[in-house]
Amino acid sequence: MASDQSPQRPGGDPPSDALARVPDQLWASILIEALPYIRAYQGARVVIKQGGHAMTDPELQRNLALDVALLRFVGVNPVVVHGGGPQIDDLLKKLGLGRQFVEGYRYTDEPTLDVVRMVLGGHLGKDIASQLCQAGAKALALTGQDGRLIQAQRKTLPQASGEELDIGLVGEPTQINRELLEHLFQGGIIPVISPVGVDESGQSYNINADSAAAAVAESLKAARLILMTDVPGVLGPDGRLISRLTASEIEALKKEGAISGGMLPKLASCLKAVKGGCQGAAIIDGRVPHAVLLELLTDHGYGTEVVLG
Ligand SMILES: Nc1ncnc2c1ncn2[C@@H]1O[C@H](COP(=O)(O)OP(=O)(O)OP(=O)(O)O)[C@@H](O)[C@H]1O
Ligand SMILES: [Mg+2]
Repeated sequence: MASDQSPQRPGGDPPSDALARVPDQLWASILIEALPYIRAYQGARVVIKQGGHAMTDPELQRNLALDVALLRFVGVNPVVVHGGGPQIDDLLKKLGLGRQFVEGYRYTDEPTLDVVRMVLGGHLGKDIASQLCQAGAKALALTGQDGRLIQAQRKTLPQASGEELDIGLVGEPTQINRELLEHLFQGGIIPVISPVGVDESGQSYNINADSAAAAVAESLKAARLILMTDVPGVLGPDGRLISRLTASEIEALKKEGAISGGMLPKLASCLKAVKGGCQGAAIIDGRVPHAVLLELLTDHGYGTEVVLG
């Protein structure tokens, strides 16, 4: 490939010292190791959720854009759904507004919903799509309101007492406009989805990004749902990574109090997706450079795989 006509590296970067020292034969074996996976994922839909916490490092962000663009060029149809917890918190703070979480979901009143819509739809989604375009891919940022991509209804949390707990303008997806996604795939476009939903009356909702990603994965019967976060995966009570979890094991860990906060919607989302026909779901460490490529295109298993049992 080394000629004056060689394709430019993304951003025109020279190869790093580490890369320059990789022997040619090793390069070839690394590429060949990916072959069965590339073949298996040809034309497949893969839904990748970028966690807000793992999105605060610009280098990781850029790496992820390169990974997703590469997946597109080897024949996968990736969909990116993104969170934005820390970025929403920052703007709430600047505006003198508070934050409150209930069982991992952000309590959302009207002013909070405005901030959520601004940060996710106005800023983060656009930046992710722009980085994908910079990596040579075609990408389009949409919120769930655009084209009624994520239709939703108000979500409440069932309590042991039998009551339903109100968490404000938080939505749960009821339907995904799959046709719109299919049009984008046909055009070779990577959809970047900000998790804001809309109901019949036009009311918009804040949707947990894991729930939105699961609904998209379920609707597309995706080959894989990958939830990237800021921990190595699900950690057990001893603090060690659990590499595989079934529905009943998740229930047991919840009863023990070993799972809390943002991990609750994440596991609920993985289970919902696999029950709904997504072929596999995993929670992986988004802080590891190129975690998505390693997860999809190598023999190495990363993070926690959620299975039906
Ligand atoms: N058993 C557990 N194993 C691992 N993490 C856990 C566990 N229980 C709770 N957590 C928490 O879940 C968090 C991940 O969820 P969180 O919602 O904070 O991030 P995210 O979903 O990646 O980002 P965002 O919500 O912005 O999209 C971890 O940082 C950790 O604090
Ligand atoms: Mg979260």
